[in-house]
Formats: sequence, C-alpha cells, structure tokens
Amino acid sequence: MTAARRVRIGVLVSGRGSNLQAILDASAAGRLSADVVVVLSDVADAYALERARRHNVPAIFEDPKRHGSREAFDKALIGHLEDHRVELVCLAGFMRVMTPAFVGHYRNRIMNIHPALLPAFPGLHVQGKALKHGVKWSGCTVHFVDEGVDTGPIIIQAVVPVLEGDTDETLSARILRYEHQIYPRAIQLYAEGRLKVEGRRVLCAPGPGDGAPAEFGRLNP
Ligand code: GRF
Repeated sequence: MTAARRVRIGVLVSGRGSNLQAILDASAAGRLSADVVVVLSDVADAYALERARRHNVPAIFEDPKRHGSREAFDKALIGHLEDHRVELVCLAGFMRVMTPAFVGHYRNRIMNIHPALLPAFPGLHVQGKALKHGVKWSGCTVHFVDEGVDTGPIIIQAVVPVLEGDTDETLSARILRYEHQIYPRAIQLYAEGRLKVEGRRVLCAPGPGDGAPAEFGRLNP
C-alpha cells in the first residue's frame, strides 16, 4: 500500500462552487492528503473563483472566447495546470466537455462529480429528469473522466431517496449534501494510492484498519 502523500489538485469550475468548498474545507481540516493549488474557470464571475481567493488559492478565469477552438482552450487550461504542477484534475460543476487531447493528457487523473446514479441520467438537469421519470432512488457519482459525457469508470456513488413531495430544488439539495461527502472521499482514496482502474471498473485497495486483505477489492462506500 502506498502511504498517503499530498496530491496537488486543480479544480475546474463554472458556477457556485459548493463542491470546491467541500474539497477546500476537507483539506483545511486535515481530512484530505491533498491541496487545491489552482482553480480555473470558464466563467468570469463564477462565485467559485471567490471561494478560491478566500482560501488564498490562485483563481484564474480563462476566457473561451479568446480561443479559436475547444482544443486551443483546453491547451490553455493544461498550461495553467502544468504551471501549478497539478497531478489530479477535479471537475466541480465545470460546464464544458473536455477534448480527447485533455483527457489523454490526464488519463485516469481527472475526476468529475455528477448528481445522479450513473449510467442513469447523464448530461444536464438530471435531478429534474430523475423526478419526472419517477425513480424512487437517485444519488450522485464520482467518476474518472473519459472521452464521453459522464461515461468514465465509477469511483464512488451515494444513493439518495426520492420523496413524494420532492421538487427539483429539494431533491437537488438532498443529493448535494452527499456530493460534498463523496467527492473529498474519492480524492482521499486517490491520494492514498488505493484506486486502480481495470477496464470500466475502479478497484479500491483496503485502507489501514479496514481489516481486509491487502489486495484490491470492490469499493463499498
Ligand atoms: C453539482 O450538482 C455537480 O454534481 C454538477 O454540477 C453541480 C455543481 O455545483 N456537476 P457546485 O458548483 O459544486 O455547487
């Protein structure tokens, strides 16, 4: 088992940044063997940038309009991430699909959080879609990012009940509370060197005190 080390994280955001905040808080509280070393946004006034500044983390707006193509924009992002020696990229409400070149550059080193139990309800506005579909359970997923949209190998999921009186807002808020728990946890498993991707599966080695044999097993969050 690899001992926990401090992993340098870059977080990509487009909006309010509550997942970024959960990661910053977990790191500040010593619950994460990782540091957010840069926050990048494609939206100038994303509140997430303000959250980063309050934690003295460099907060950079990269304007997509300044670039002629998605590839050029992603290349600029890679430039910032390399400047800050980022090892793990965390998408946290980043409203753009990464190019294959970006995904290839950080293969199995990009995580995303999605507010549904993938592979159900990929894409946007998924809490409303889950409600409309009538599912009784929804949840959230942290996964590695591949070339598809919300299709990469799944690291952790949390299951959340859908209640009869739920609206888009109440269900989203219930799911969000779990997002804030499982994203830092997935990052910590990565930092402890416990995650191994085998095809579509992410295997997780038991941690110290888990009482399980020191081999890769199925993750049971
Ligand atoms: C979250 O629901 C996340 O699952 C999705 O976008 C939302 C971002 O929220 N990818 P926040 O900006 O982290 O508050």
